[in-house]
Amino acid sequence: MIAASALALLLGAAAPAAAHFTISAPPARGHDELVQDEAPCGGFNDPSAARPAFGPSSQLTVRFADTAGELGIFLGIGANPSDFSLQIGKAVLSQRGVYNLTFDLSAVPAANAKSLATVQIRSESEHGSLFECADVTLDIPVKSSPTPPSPSASPSPMPPSPSASPVPPSPSASSSPAPQSSQPASQSPAPSATHAGGYPTDGPVLSGASSMAAGSLAAVAAGAVAALVL
Ligand SMILES: *[C@@H]1O[C@H](CO)[C@@H](O)[C@H](O)[C@H]1NC(C)=O
Repeated sequence: MIAASALALLLGAAAPAAAHFTISAPPARGHDELVQDEAPCGGFNDPSAARPAFGPSSQLTVRFADTAGELGIFLGIGANPSDFSLQIGKAVLSQRGVYNLTFDLSAVPAANAKSLATVQIRSESEHGSLFECADVTLDIPVKSSPTPPSPSASPSPMPPSPSASPVPPSPSASSSPAPQSSQPASQSPAPSATHAGGYPTDGPVLSGASSMAAGSLAAVAAGAVAALVL
């Protein structure tokens, strides 16, 4: 007994450099390098009582004591999850240090935005697979409207925009007369073709004679005048 605990002490004292990694924020469920290879949480199977909020802007900080390794960041949903298949991040580290890890919670289902959850970090290194967990309460902002048209966001109601209504008769000229009106005479057919490009009749105009282009140019000019008068 005494010899065993002395041995454990010795191992612990002699191996600070072999600490591998530990989660410092949010607080790890527990850290014991002797059993850190036990999935899913490095030998700690009971969730912490304290569960800090964890959201998109939360800090996820790891002390990494190996010289090379790859960290996979996973999330398990629930009070004591065993499924950590939702990967929220990853980091390839090549030196010891303290790291703020980036992660992405956008794949968490909206229904779980406020759920209990556990962050799991797996390290793959020369030491094999090592695990550590941190228990949290998710605090992900819930997007209020998954439906596209939000009533509060649209100042202009549905059908015709008021600005477009004063020029009902000539649909070809009503769209954007302003740029053409500044210099109608000097316009070559090419600009009017590009102008007409947005209209359903652009095929004929583009492939047709220059007289058609001139005609549409005149229509544009007329529309511009009409717009100016109005
Ligand atoms: C991690 O973030 C905290 C808070 O923003 C900051 O004080 C600390 O310096 C950061 N650490 C690293 C290693 O970037």
